[in-house]
Amino acid sequence: MTIAVIILAAGQGTRMRSAKPKVLHKLAGRSLLTHVLYTVNHLNTYIEHNIKNKISVSSNNNNFNNALSLLSVVHGHQGKMVKEKIEHELDNKNKHEPNFDLDIINWISQEQQLGTGHAVITAINNIKSELDKNKVDQVLVLYGDVPLVDLEDLKTLISTTNKESLGIITLKASNPYGLGRIIRDENNNIVNIVEEKDANSAQKLITEVNTGIFLLPYPKVNTLLDKLDNNNKQQEYYLTDIVKQCCDNNININSVTVTDRIRYLGINNLYQLSQAERHYQLLTALDLLEQGVNIIDPKRIDIRGKLLAETEVTIDINSVFEGAVTIGKHCIIEPNCILKNVELHENVHVKANSIIENSVVHSNSVVGPFARIRPDCVIADNVHIGNFVEIKKSQVKHGAKINHLSYIGDSIVGKNVNVGAGTITCNYDGVNKHQTIIEDNAFIGSNSSLIAPVVIGANSTIGAGSTISKDTPSNKLTIARGHQKTIDNWQRSDKQKVSDNNSSNSSSSSEK
Ligand code: UD1
Ligand code: CA
Repeated sequence: MTIAVIILAAGQGTRMRSAKPKVLHKLAGRSLLTHVLYTVNHLNTYIEHNIKNKISVSSNNNNFNNALSLLSVVHGHQGKMVKEKIEHELDNKNKHEPNFDLDIINWISQEQQLGTGHAVITAINNIKSELDKNKVDQVLVLYGDVPLVDLEDLKTLISTTNKESLGIITLKASNPYGLGRIIRDENNNIVNIVEEKDANSAQKLITEVNTGIFLLPYPKVNTLLDKLDNNNKQQEYYLTDIVKQCCDNNININSVTVTDRIRYLGINNLYQLSQAERHYQLLTALDLLEQGVNIIDPKRIDIRGKLLAETEVTIDINSVFEGAVTIGKHCIIEPNCILKNVELHENVHVKANSIIENSVVHSNSVVGPFARIRPDCVIADNVHIGNFVEIKKSQVKHGAKINHLSYIGDSIVGKNVNVGAGTITCNYDGVNKHQTIIEDNAFIGSNSSLIAPVVIGANSTIGAGSTISKDTPSNKLTIARGHQKTIDNWQRSDKQKVSDNNSSNSSSSSEK
């Protein structure tokens, strides 16, 4: 017994008012379609797990002895671009995400977008021999523009729908505008779905709507699909018309009803995208709160990837976490920080307005406020990186302090080094980048320029304001700056006297 999945993603998404195909729009940092693909991946893992462990997840139904064998994506509008971008995204996935085998996706082109029913027909015709060979008996249809479809709801749909029946996920929505209305008969059986544009005023009042998610019985569905027509306001072949076909052919319809409107909203315009984004962020924040991560305001956090945080972590407002971020116990993230692909060990304090990217910060270190740690930095334990300090592709070792207004690039900063305010590593000669090595316990006086390649010896002291262009010896003071002179008998010139005649408007305005 096997389930095949078809994801519909061929539409242009005119209502988005964007040249970009709809399913490539980003929600929480990843494409709408990628969200759906990840959910399918999780569903697959879950089903395989159940086969291995022979777990019956439903007392009255054993449908979980299934495996997803075929995954198809119907693409059309700018289809080549959709395929390339999605493959790229899955290939460069976040290291916290499970692997996705790209080869399992069957990309099917729907040249003309004649409706959701036509999209499913196109897919099934394309993979018919595979469906038969794999003895597929159910086809799960998902929409590329319903990215937040819940894994748990899919499990419920699969576990409660007999393979001879049609399964539908419906939604109770107080504002059903724009969605297909579920029509039930006096016995509460579903008998039809009517699209907004085709609905009469009584039907428009119905608050149970179609989410677009269908579990179709195969191969029975072929005969039903053949009967679809486009006699409707939009002159499209609606998948939803299959419901009426089922009724006419005595095929049982099973529905699972959900209530999370925004999850199943379907993204047709940028406003809905923004609503789905905030909803996703809130759900993610609530999950983290439940795990013991102290998020000060769950409405003011953005996670565009995957954040793994330990307990006793505090995250203040307005920070953005991108890619794979790991935060160890007792860390504090103050407001307005951006952390992208970052690993923070225990008790790291990231002060307000700091940016850290593709780097690791070890225990008990402090970063910020207003610090920028660019890619490829390893900040060891007990390090202090202070305000207006930029660090790039450098190692900063145990106990070092770079507290104010510095640029450290392509460098190794040794243990317990103190870098004075305004110190700059001159790492770029206009063509190549060079390395600066500051050995353990060195003290760099303020406003020094270290011209790379250069090595500052261990325990050495560099006098403030030095321009260091040669290696400096250990344990000594090196100063490289102009000598201070005092000129005796020097007099500041007098202020020029302005004649009374010229003292009016012109001179006074130039002084402002
Ligand atoms: C559809 C449903 C509606 C449901 C709503 C839920 C139909 C006829 N209507 O309406 O009942 O309430 O979703 O969100 O199914 N697509 C193709 N090829 C096509 C047409 C569409 O692949 O020829 C894809 C789109 O890219 C999109 C999905 O199918 O991902 C849904 O299409 P869309 O036009 O957005 O349908 P809705 O009007 O939202
Ligand atoms: Ca839609």
